[in-house]
Amino acid sequence: MAERLGFIGLGLMGTPMTRNLLRAGHAVTVWNRTRAKAEALAAEGARVAASPAAVARGANIVLACLADAAAVEAVVTGPEGVLAGIGPGQVFVDLSTNSPPVSARLAAALAGRGAQMLDAPVSGGDVGAAAGTLSIMAGGPAAAFRRCLPVLEVLGGRITHMGEAVGAGGYAKLANQIMVGIHLAALGEALVFGAKAGLDPRRLAGALAGGLANSEVLRVKLPKVLSGDFAPGGRVATQLKDLDYVAESLAAMDFELPVAGLVRELYRELAAAGHADEDHSAIVRLCEARAGVTVRG
Ligand SMILES: NC(=O)c1ccc[n+]([C@@H]2O[C@H](COP(=O)([O-])OP(=O)(O)OC[C@H]3O[C@@H](n4cnc5c(N)ncnc54)[C@H](OP(=O)(O)O)[C@@H]3O)[C@@H](O)[C@H]2O)c1
Repeated sequence: MAERLGFIGLGLMGTPMTRNLLRAGHAVTVWNRTRAKAEALAAEGARVAASPAAVARGANIVLACLADAAAVEAVVTGPEGVLAGIGPGQVFVDLSTNSPPVSARLAAALAGRGAQMLDAPVSGGDVGAAAGTLSIMAGGPAAAFRRCLPVLEVLGGRITHMGEAVGAGGYAKLANQIMVGIHLAALGEALVFGAKAGLDPRRLAGALAGGLANSEVLRVKLPKVLSGDFAPGGRVATQLKDLDYVAESLAAMDFELPVAGLVRELYRELAAAGHADEDHSAIVRLCEARAGVTVRG
């Protein structure tokens, strides 16, 4: 059934997601802080709203895919934010990778207006967003999840309800980001190790892909690492933000994850060296600099 949808946040991920919702026949009202990105989608059938509140007034389900917790808070609770336009029976679906405690707080604020929330972060990158094959990990009331499922199925290939608590989706996504960050560091280290030993990185990668070392990270990110084209994809700054949320969660849980902690420090170093806006596979740069070899060429 075609729904009246809203979409807020038309970045690398939000733009292809919105495009897929339009192609699936949904009416979509959009808002983006930088208006030009919203106007670009008007040509494909989106209605451009003047504020997040206006999006919420015109939609049954309001989706958002924003940079970080601060952006989601601003869009929901700020002047002319979602809270000012949303009401009973509506659902706010946050597809951003957000801090789980922030998601829980926003859900309570939305409940005060009679609306429900799902935190439903995604994995699969810009490639998965364009293909509509994302893995979506949702937290929130089962009834809201069931209601939004047909819409989420346009965006993703695997949609998992992680639990009734808003924040459950975020914790699942942070677990995902622990694995992605460590895998990217492992890929960089393995290729640099091989190059230092005189192996051809391309031939090595082919061999690795046939055994237990194979992974989605190897499949999707190897071309970037070998070509040195670090146009994002997922940004270094985004990966670091996610590992910061992992660290916040660990502090609240009062335990440590040593490898995730180390990879967070590496991403911090990479961002500080001026690579924050590159693809997160650029972590190979740090391994190359330490070893004095390059895997490109
Ligand atoms: N890229 C990936 O591979 C990937 C994969 C999985 C999940 N994610 C998650 O998806 C989310 C979006 O990522 P992305 O790669 O699409 O990021 P992006 O291209 O940087 O887009 C970020 C969006 O957030 C908006 N924004 C930032 N700060 C804002 C503020 N204070 N108020 C209002 N809007 C604000 C930006 O608006 P402007 O256009 O005005 O800057 C833009 O629409 C993030 O939470 C990320 O962790 C990303």
